Amino acid sequence: MSVFLGIDIGTSGTKTLAMREDGAILAKDTVEYPLYTPRPGWSEQNPEDWWQATVQSVQAVLKKGDIDPGEVKGIGLSGQMHGSVFLDADKNVIRPALLWNDQRTQAECEEIESRAGGRSALIDMVSNPALTGFTAPKILWLRNNEPDNYEKTKQVLLPKDYVRFRLTGEFASEVSDASGTLLLDVKNRSWCQPLLDKLEIDNALLPEVFESEVVSGTLSDVAASALGLPSGVAVVGGGGDQAAGAVGNGIVSGGTISATMGTSGVVFAHSDEVQTDPEGRVHTFCHAVNGQWHVMGCVLSAGGSLQWYRNQFGEMESAVAAGMDTEAYELMTAAADKAPAGSEGLYFLPYLTGERTPHCDPYARGAWIGLSLRHGRPHMIRSVMEGATYAMRDCLEIIKGMNIPISQIRVSGGGARSAFWRQLQADIYGQDICVTNSDEGPAYGVALLAATGTGAYSNVVEACSATISVTDSTATSAATKAAYDKAYPMYGQLYRSLKNDFPNLAELADS
Ligand code: XUL
Repeated sequence: MSVFLGIDIGTSGTKTLAMREDGAILAKDTVEYPLYTPRPGWSEQNPEDWWQATVQSVQAVLKKGDIDPGEVKGIGLSGQMHGSVFLDADKNVIRPALLWNDQRTQAECEEIESRAGGRSALIDMVSNPALTGFTAPKILWLRNNEPDNYEKTKQVLLPKDYVRFRLTGEFASEVSDASGTLLLDVKNRSWCQPLLDKLEIDNALLPEVFESEVVSGTLSDVAASALGLPSGVAVVGGGGDQAAGAVGNGIVSGGTISATMGTSGVVFAHSDEVQTDPEGRVHTFCHAVNGQWHVMGCVLSAGGSLQWYRNQFGEMESAVAAGMDTEAYELMTAAADKAPAGSEGLYFLPYLTGERTPHCDPYARGAWIGLSLRHGRPHMIRSVMEGATYAMRDCLEIIKGMNIPISQIRVSGGGARSAFWRQLQADIYGQDICVTNSDEGPAYGVALLAATGTGAYSNVVEACSATISVTDSTATSAATKAAYDKAYPMYGQLYRSLKNDFPNLAELADS
């Protein structure tokens, strides 16, 4: 049987998996790399690290799965979205890449809106407002702040597309990831020339854009020998990590949506037409399904908030877990279970790295509010989990308000691994949730795209229905749902009360 590789260039590491044509996973491997924060709010990585991690993880997968390289018929690429790799005329990387969670570009976002003729004119052109993490503001930041580097720049690539260039020698992208640059005409699935003109960005800086399952190039001799594969293996477009993760979770037709709690949290809905939120609070991007779109809300620190708690305050749980052959998270959720729903009036705002949906506010900051002598560790932990889940509900409410049907919510990521957090999600969303047999995320999604693009399946929907099915579900508990329906409005109110103070807080922190 043919084998397909899915490679996901994530923020903490690159994950590669090998999938047999029938969907079975043969092997997987992750190679990690550092993230650099040269200043508060800046976030950078070295593209060479992505390439080295790709080579090592592909080699490891071939070995672990005892795979005959001749059976590998296609490669799919996924990755962290919105990052920018700047290449010079010799195709060398000019400076470290700016990442999706980099917040340095507020001035450039304002410049883009003003050059575009205002926020709604911009949304008309590219279906989204300018957000600090997106790619176009990064290009303008380079022009405004490092003019010599901008002068040298001849190509701008997204993270996975840089790896594609190293694999195939071609400059190419695909519609789902390209949507997050803010330079794609999302309706027409091609670069938006009118906006490029207004921003004075030469379209020669941008690669050719393909549909996600289309073969964009083939493995070069040099790359093939580095990876231990035959040259000529097809490399399909692939997808930005959210669209690819949705394919890997079977979110490829209307009604089914996903709620994924990784470091960030994403609520993702398929849509067969372009639907925008006039306020731009959710993103409207091309889906990795040919001719389809999606709407998604993105919470920057969802599971990341609990991870932060564990790293800063979870020493005891970590030490005990090490001696008990368990995980600190299990002990933390057991503690959280001791506090009642709503944490007796304690709220946590999870804006540790600013927020995208619904506030689009890079200055927003985290907070515990409502503390009293009554509150202990269980409340602190539970409130962090509740805050992250309320943030996901904010996304869900906007999507519901756009009249996008929601018949099934599939949860995945760290927040879906614990039964306690699954129940919390069902109760806060106020709707039953389910999990599928597929929890490998974007790497699995792009392996399915590779299988589709090389003919193993006739389309992505067929590939998903052959391989992905619901395995378990969690029902909402009526009493707890009622408690959360009562507590949720205050969560939104607390942000509104603090909103005007956040920029001053951020300034104090930087001074
Ligand atoms: C999506 C987004 C993140 C990154 C990193 O808009 O910013 O999902 O792709 O995972």
